[in-house]
Amino acid sequence: MKSPRSSGQTPAMRTEFRKALMPGELRSLCTFDRKVFPSDHFSPADWRGYEAWWLVVNQRKIGCCAFETQDDGCLYISTTGILPSFQRRGYGRLMKTWQLIYARESGFRCIETHTRKSNVAMIALNREFGFQVSRTERGYYEDPRESAVVMRLELQRPTG
Ligand SMILES: CC(C)(COP(=O)(O)OP(=O)(O)OC[C@H]1O[C@@H](n2cnc3c(N)ncnc32)[C@H](O)[C@@H]1OP(=O)(O)O)[C@@H](O)C(=O)NCCC(=O)NCCS
Repeated sequence: MKSPRSSGQTPAMRTEFRKALMPGELRSLCTFDRKVFPSDHFSPADWRGYEAWWLVVNQRKIGCCAFETQDDGCLYISTTGILPSFQRRGYGRLMKTWQLIYARESGFRCIETHTRKSNVAMIALNREFGFQVSRTERGYYEDPRESAVVMRLELQRPTG
């Protein structure tokens, strides 16, 4: 029997979400952050306070997101990023799908995240999954100075 490669088929892609190892992958997280964002980079101390997850495709870390738990029972998404060379191929949507599954399975009642007001990609993606803008925070980002929109998705209907 021919192997998939010799028959012209694409070999199956192995895609997984894997929790970042701390502190072993701190440097890797900081490097990834600099590749994806032009500014507003998290410090190693910031990363230590987050629960970070990799999107790994064929053993390559092509995406990353980080979570914090809010006092109100919401999952706060501190960052979501896909390496520039892998953007616009559906990996952002895959990661957002996984974030919702993760939040639901972990028992969170909502998800909240800040996004630059100019970040049309992230705002469109969040809206696609039902997030709504709950408020705007003026001057939230520093480099360059810009307002943030806070986007929120309720996962459970209030009872009663
Ligand atoms: C935002 C980001 C995660 C999206 O990931 P991606 O893999 O490129 O997104 P996808 O290919 O899954 O696209 C999903 C949808 O997002 C929106 N989108 C993605 N890139 C876009 C762009 N450049 N302009 C407008 N909309 C865009 C579209 O609605 C798109 O759906 P469509 O392809 O059917 O039009 C990615 O662009 C990124 O990492 N950007 C830099 C980091 C960042 O800004 N993160 C968010 C702040 S925390």
